[in-house]
Amino acid sequence: MPQQTSSPLPAATAVVLVAAGSGQRLGRGIPKARVLCAGRTLLEHALDGILAARVAVSVVVVLPADDAVLTAVVDRLAAGAGGTRVSSVVGGGTRTASVRAGLAAVPESAAVVLVHDAARALTPPGVFRRVAAAVAAGAEAVVPVLPVVDTVKIVTGTVVTSTPDRTTLRAVQTPQGFATASLRAAHLAVPATSDAVTDDAMLMEARGADVHVVDGDALAFKVTAPLDLLVAEAVLAQRDAPGSAPLPT
Ligand code: C5P
Repeated sequence: MPQQTSSPLPAATAVVLVAAGSGQRLGRGIPKARVLCAGRTLLEHALDGILAARVAVSVVVVLPADDAVLTAVVDRLAAGAGGTRVSSVVGGGTRTASVRAGLAAVPESAAVVLVHDAARALTPPGVFRRVAAAVAAGAEAVVPVLPVVDTVKIVTGTVVTSTPDRTTLRAVQTPQGFATASLRAAHLAVPATSDAVTDDAMLMEARGADVHVVDGDALAFKVTAPLDLLVAEAVLAQRDAPGSAPLPT
């Protein structure tokens, strides 16, 4: 396997980048990863962040079936990825199935795996580094989190049944990091068709593993609805303007 030239981490780390979703809520009629933001696909932005983090010996990109555009994007970025091996596989009908397809292509030598949503296309490199470093330091599962700013209600039907203490709540992002063997085992325990699994940390919690938190970043927001795409365009315009300072988040 090609080796990364200057990895700051002791453990070999792989990234599974899931990009096989349909993006229906964005309403563009094409897979979300193919949607353009400031002239480049969301997939390119997501891969940029991963490669800039310089944590991975291997990146497995999970794509919709028969997507020649996204396959070409991966091939082009793979050619310029230095010592990081970038490859693609075809995903499935659920996020869980797509993660599993990606995990199957992760090399056995990668002791650490990060699972990342391509929809979090502007995730800064520092988030990848924090998560990877925490797993390499011994945590079995690590998620990046932000405090919750809204008051959150539990609702049954149309009636509020309770209000959790906001100080104990965290909004969870990706990349989520795991000891690779543990995540492989956790995935064996659920059907790939399950829509109820909304992130990988849930599977580790179900096994009784401790899931640790590190700081997330507001720029790791998920592009889901048209408003998110507008925000992403504005962020990139500010970031790429000559002489601009880094965005405070
Ligand atoms: O739909 P959701 O926002 O949960 O998708 C999160 C990530 O999972 C997206 O990057 C999407 O491309 C990916 N996904 C996938 N395969 C699916 C569904 C979602 O790779 N079948």
